[in-house]
Amino acid sequence: MSETQSTFVILGATGDLTRRLLFPAIYRLYAQNEWTAGQIVGYAVEKWDRNQFLDHIKTNLKAFVTGFDEKTWEGLAARIQYQSGDLSAPSLGALKRFVQDDAIFYLGLPPQLFANAAQGLGQAGLSRPPHSGIFRRIVIEKPFGWDLKSARALGQALSPWWQEDQVFRIDHFLGKDTVQNVLVFRFINRLLASIWDSQHIAQVQITYAETLGLEGRWQYYDKAGALRDMLQNHLMQLFTLVAMEPPSEWDADILHNHKAEVLRAVRSLPPERLADFAVAGQYSAGQVGGHAVPAYTEEEGIKTDSATETYAALKLYVDNWRWYGVPFYLRSGKRMAQDYAEIGVQLKSVPEKLFGAGLSDWLVFRMKPDEAIDLVMWAKKPGMDLVSEQIVLTAPYKKAGESDYSAYEQLLLDVLKGDQSAFPRFDEVEASWRIVDPVLEAWKAQKPELYRAGTDGPAGQDRLMDANLSWRPLGTPS
Ligand code: BG6
Repeated sequence: MSETQSTFVILGATGDLTRRLLFPAIYRLYAQNEWTAGQIVGYAVEKWDRNQFLDHIKTNLKAFVTGFDEKTWEGLAARIQYQSGDLSAPSLGALKRFVQDDAIFYLGLPPQLFANAAQGLGQAGLSRPPHSGIFRRIVIEKPFGWDLKSARALGQALSPWWQEDQVFRIDHFLGKDTVQNVLVFRFINRLLASIWDSQHIAQVQITYAETLGLEGRWQYYDKAGALRDMLQNHLMQLFTLVAMEPPSEWDADILHNHKAEVLRAVRSLPPERLADFAVAGQYSAGQVGGHAVPAYTEEEGIKTDSATETYAALKLYVDNWRWYGVPFYLRSGKRMAQDYAEIGVQLKSVPEKLFGAGLSDWLVFRMKPDEAIDLVMWAKKPGMDLVSEQIVLTAPYKKAGESDYSAYEQLLLDVLKGDQSAFPRFDEVEASWRIVDPVLEAWKAQKPELYRAGTDGPAGQDRLMDANLSWRPLGTPS
């Protein structure tokens, strides 16, 4: 059966994720003739009829899609069905009238319902393809678990019904163009292969700074915090792309094997010296982009004594031959000075007698606000004197807002094609929980350090830095 006849079922079809992200992405793919699935079936508890669902989706598309086009919508709407029901197997069984052959089940549900939904679909007989050559796939949004224990429990709940090759765990960072370019750039340029190790690299910094605050997501965020929200998944995935061994071919399983291996090679964080490896921060009142913003504990819905971290930083060491002794720093925070994200790789300094001390190069993959690769190097300053200056060689990739498709669209296309390379495998998820679990545990008993909103983060982040290293200031290509 070809992909054009597959059915795309959205569980939680009346929810926030579906209206804000999923349908706009489907709409744009459809408008560009890229949407290859046949029917789209919305499934949710609301006892709506099809027209109510269509009205709801249309109203939201108009709000979230630029250049909404009535004709495109009519074409898309003709494919959309609606079925109301809960997550019990008999109720889900009603989907069989839409699902005969190839099908994708997208869980746009709160995470505490993932296990029930996956089991319900299984018990209703929807997870097993009726015959060979037919696929059944399930797509799960993050978070995949809340800690190591719950991630394993979720894995166990899924496994009787869904094989690993049917499960697509969305980490939208892996659909970002610059993120994919890290792998391409790394493995296509011989120049990099010869310097990509502890002999030449002094440190790696992965920074994801946001000016955004809670955006109405306080119920989720106050339970999650920055470590769960950003580091355990997105930043840890970026880390694997920088640190993994070169794959021999572009094959999902080989990529996952290498990523899982590097996560397993991360040295356990020492509980007695955890403060030297992990920093938690929380923003206090300040100014962001010229506007006064309240402290985290004064945000709507947040208790005044909340100890949730809105900033998290980790220092990791990879105990293998390639990376022995090289610190990898990961940090992300809300309400910081700028929206700025990058992966910075610093080369070791050259001998200092010739041109002075502390001269080292950086290779920077900039992800936000615009996308580019910078090579920060040194050269002779024009003139009579033998003086060096820093130069930045920039390969612009994409300007802010220039993207013609979102990470989401890229990942949806991959799900339709059945390409799992950009979806973390369970062992990767498990290994990254194993890294952060002791930190989560330790942070239960401590308050995060305050940082003023609109700054580069808590002062305590500097204590993670090894001798002669420092954080790159946000927003600079130097
Ligand atoms: C999400 C986090 O996964 O990623 C958000 O839950 C965060 O808190 C977002 O703001 C950042 O990703 P992007 O692509 O919007 O910059």
